Amino acid sequence: MNDTPVNEDTARVRGASPAGATDTQSAARRVREMFTAIAPHYDLLNHLLSANVDKHWWRRTAATFSPLLSRPNARVLDLCCGTGDMTFALRRAGPQAQITGADFSHAMLRLALKKSDGVTGLKWIEADALQLPFADESFDLLTSAFGFRNLADYDAGLREIHRVLKPGGQFGILEFSEPKGILGKLYRFYFKQVLPRIGGLVSGTSAYSYLPASVEKFPSPAELASRMTAVAFRKVEWVPYTFGIAGLYRGTK
Ligand SMILES: C[S@@+](CC[C@H](N)C(=O)[O-])C[C@H]1O[C@@H](n2cnc3c(N)ncnc32)[C@H](O)[C@@H]1O
Repeated sequence: MNDTPVNEDTARVRGASPAGATDTQSAARRVREMFTAIAPHYDLLNHLLSANVDKHWWRRTAATFSPLLSRPNARVLDLCCGTGDMTFALRRAGPQAQITGADFSHAMLRLALKKSDGVTGLKWIEADALQLPFADESFDLLTSAFGFRNLADYDAGLREIHRVLKPGGQFGILEFSEPKGILGKLYRFYFKQVLPRIGGLVSGTSAYSYLPASVEKFPSPAELASRMTAVAFRKVEWVPYTFGIAGLYRGTK
């Protein structure tokens, strides 16, 4: 990662830019510190603030890839795995797949490891999504749930995903989005006014103010899809989940 300013071009967001970040390195450091700080409360707040809909989103994403997951010896990487809920959903959909969860927050990974007691065949690796410690063309499937938006450089992240996927390999990036219409207005009120207050009270951090700010700055589905196509992914599509509160980006190398 270089030290180019986070958002050199206001029309094209380079990557996550938490408050106080001046370049891609400081943005990544702040993101890691933030997730490390909220790790002990992360699961509770996730389920509470999403009214458990998050579990449905992980399950639905895993089910989308079940034909691929049920191939013998399918190699799967769950990037930005955090405490592992997406990884566990993949395991349930593909009991034979070789699944690795990767994250750069040691505290989040420790929780994933603790939760994986009794679940077989999972590997956990501490790694930066922008510099993955895997050879080219290592995986048949790469997923990332609510992690990609936090990368300091989205195009660099997409290039790294492209590099580690096998030809014909697929990715699924699950991310928040901003629903439109009346529901969008109600949701924005909840997301910007209510969620940061509850999150702040429980976690004692400002991470839950960063969340709506990062979703607002995140490229639109159409823009991100075109950036995915620009790094040579094919069959790129975005499928909205729950009225577009979240959605799944898919593509093939
Ligand atoms: C919102 S959490 C999502 C965790 C999990 N996938 C889920 O659905 O609950 C985002 C995760 O991305 C990780 N992350 C952010 N930037 C990263 C990077 N550059 N490399 C690796 N992990 C990163 C954070 O440490 C955090 O655990």
